[in-house]
Amino acid sequence: MKNSEFDMSEKVALVTGASSGLGAHFARELAIRGAKVVVTARRTEKLENVAREILSLGGEVVSIPIDVTERKSIKNCFDEVEKRYGVVNLVCNNAGVAKPEKAVDVDEASWDKILDTNLKGVWMVAKEAAKRMISEEVSGSIVNTASIMGLRVALNRASYAASKAAVIQLTKALALEWSEYNIRVNALCPGFFVTEMTEHYFLQPSFAKYMKTIVPKRAGDMDEITAPFLLLASDAGSYLNGICIPVDGGHSLGKI
Ligand SMILES: NC(=O)c1ccc[n+]([C@@H]2O[C@H](COP(=O)([O-])OP(=O)(O)OC[C@H]3O[C@@H](n4cnc5c(N)ncnc54)[C@H](OP(=O)(O)O)[C@@H]3O)[C@@H](O)[C@H]2O)c1
Repeated sequence: MKNSEFDMSEKVALVTGASSGLGAHFARELAIRGAKVVVTARRTEKLENVAREILSLGGEVVSIPIDVTERKSIKNCFDEVEKRYGVVNLVCNNAGVAKPEKAVDVDEASWDKILDTNLKGVWMVAKEAAKRMISEEVSGSIVNTASIMGLRVALNRASYAASKAAVIQLTKALALEWSEYNIRVNALCPGFFVTEMTEHYFLQPSFAKYMKTIVPKRAGDMDEITAPFLLLASDAGSYLNGICIPVDGGHSLGKI
């Protein structure tokens, strides 16, 4: 029975970067609304913790370790999910890495790691999912986690900002190509959320002062990204395609 406009009971949802932070949050929110959820990332122990928590909430979940920079691990994961749940019809393409560095100090290895994870990984996961949905004539939704760094720039974020801007363009390009198969592709552009990626900033004495200078004057609460995510992911957003929603309390309007 559909219990809300964000009902997920007919979704087989694969979440990348689900071992912590936003991905773990998205996975929980999908599961409590009835989706069959596949949590993926590299750290198996953390993934299993997330899966256990979802099970304790009464959700249906399987954890499958993948590295989004490795095509074979992505393919194997989709094969395994298909045997268990059928075709994945909802992808939360969320895995990402960041390394603040001055542009002149970014070496090739660092550049490749950021771009391979944040951009190539998103492309490879989306492509694998779409190929299968298209061949089985299954409609679906793909939600990419971009960033306000894809819309604006800040110091020491050249590779990260480039990767996220590219994710926004990729989102639109894929939405354009796959709309004929009823596969919607959209993106979230989060501002500041406290996760493993960002928590170290809060240990810096100057950081509280900096936070007072940004438009929202605070980080977002996890609950504040739930509805934007569910809108793009669920059938409630059935006429949303190729869009990128900033979820940043207005951060991107002002000083970054
Ligand atoms: N927090 C923010 O303020 C903020 C703002 C804008 C955008 N974002 C974006 O939000 C997304 C989630 O980040 P987060 O803030 O939740 O940080 P996080 O807690 O560090 O989560 C990052 C996730 O990505 C996974 N990951 C990294 N490299 C991977 C790889 N090669 N293969 C598979 N999984 C990989 C990590 O898992 P493993 O290490 O276990 O693989 C982890 O689950 C990222 O795309 C990030 O750029 C975050």
